[in-house]
Amino acid sequence: MSGKISSVRGMHDLLPRDAARWHVLEEAARVLFTRYGYEEARTPIVEETALFARGIGEGTDVVAKEMYAFADRDGTSLALRPEGTAGLARAYVEHGFGVDDPQQRWFYLGPMFRHERPQKGRYRQFFQIGVEALGSADPRVDAEQLEMAARYFQYVGLSGVELRLNSVGDEKCRPAYREALTRLFLDRFGDLCDQHRNETASKNPLRVLDCKTDRCRAVAKDAPALIDRLCDECNTHWGDLRKQLEGLGVAYTVDSRIVRGLDYYTRTAFEFVLPDGAGLGSQNALGGGGRYDQLVRELGGPPTPGVGFALGVERLALALEAIGKGERHGPDLFVATQGPEAEGAVLQIGSTCRTAGARVEVNLRKANLGNQLRRADRQKATFVVVIGAAELAGGRVRLKRLATGVEEEVALADLGREVVSRCRAADHNV
Ligand code: HAM
Repeated sequence: MSGKISSVRGMHDLLPRDAARWHVLEEAARVLFTRYGYEEARTPIVEETALFARGIGEGTDVVAKEMYAFADRDGTSLALRPEGTAGLARAYVEHGFGVDDPQQRWFYLGPMFRHERPQKGRYRQFFQIGVEALGSADPRVDAEQLEMAARYFQYVGLSGVELRLNSVGDEKCRPAYREALTRLFLDRFGDLCDQHRNETASKNPLRVLDCKTDRCRAVAKDAPALIDRLCDECNTHWGDLRKQLEGLGVAYTVDSRIVRGLDYYTRTAFEFVLPDGAGLGSQNALGGGGRYDQLVRELGGPPTPGVGFALGVERLALALEAIGKGERHGPDLFVATQGPEAEGAVLQIGSTCRTAGARVEVNLRKANLGNQLRRADRQKATFVVVIGAAELAGGRVRLKRLATGVEEEVALADLGREVVSRCRAADHNV
């Protein structure tokens, strides 16, 4: 059979025209997260399905409805990871960190898979940048992480990201709260949306709180807030966290609807949201996270608290695109050639400029000068030089800045250095 084969629905190519934005986002993570002591870890994309069922929760949408699970040749059920935290916690347990060296700070970047209904900002393969701090229950770790996230958004140039913060309590205070919610929702069951009537209302009533439909919202408005019913320990943790955030100047709003879609959360739960209209439509959560103090133990490790978050790279990239940030870089210099002498020398000229650190495209086509200059324009080169026999003989070239048309004469031998000194902006100062 012949015919075109397309990419799988909800899974997209990252093309060079968009890659620059991703590099900004990934590089910022590497630079900033390491300043806070986070080190990179990479875990496999495929894990045993049981890891996610146990770690994230069998009843969650992510596991029950959205997971790409399949049988391996020996019959073991495997799954494409829908998120990164469970895999990192598995690695932490498997490599004995809980016993030998419990305080760990890891970051990760990579693809995740969820069989969701695709729309702008929601895909079946998507990338996350995430961090996990394991081994401490201290709310200062949460606060430091949230300050790091705020700095990250600032560093990549995204302003207006809101931190919505909540506490979802722990195994001591949550059960009574769930019961109260269940009672309310069963009472008002006819008012809930189709999805959340019946099953969810009784089995997973917290999900109703973050349902976006008007029906559920109207009912959720009357629900008590868990932060008003926290046990003493959770309440102290919550109060301390808020104090630390205020001390660090990290802005947040308390949002009792943030309950998160994964079962492992305890106490701190949060989302980073770009309010509507910032290029993301309804998928405006740039990231989310929180504490998961039971996860490592549930995966067979020693009791080990943890806290982390993950950011959606496609959503960050869309938000940057909407404000014209992170555009693709053209070459610093395009070297056009005129005549056989220049054609013979151009590879050497390009090589010397690259040694000086310049990004260079040299003309290697049999094209007239007009076509070469059109190419330089299309490539968005910052500078262009035209090399011919006279330039080679005299050792001087005219360096032209394409955006302004301004020309300067420089020594051919210094061309690379001259270009680099004009092109490199000052480093980020965040
Ligand atoms: P999550 O809220 O499920 O948390 O995902 C984090 C972020 O990943 C979301 O806010 C969103 O930006 C992005 N994301 C999720 N699903 C999709 C999708 N289908 N398409 C595009 N982007 C998506 C977690 O995954 C937790 N593991 C975060 C965490 C780390 N909690 C503690 N540590």
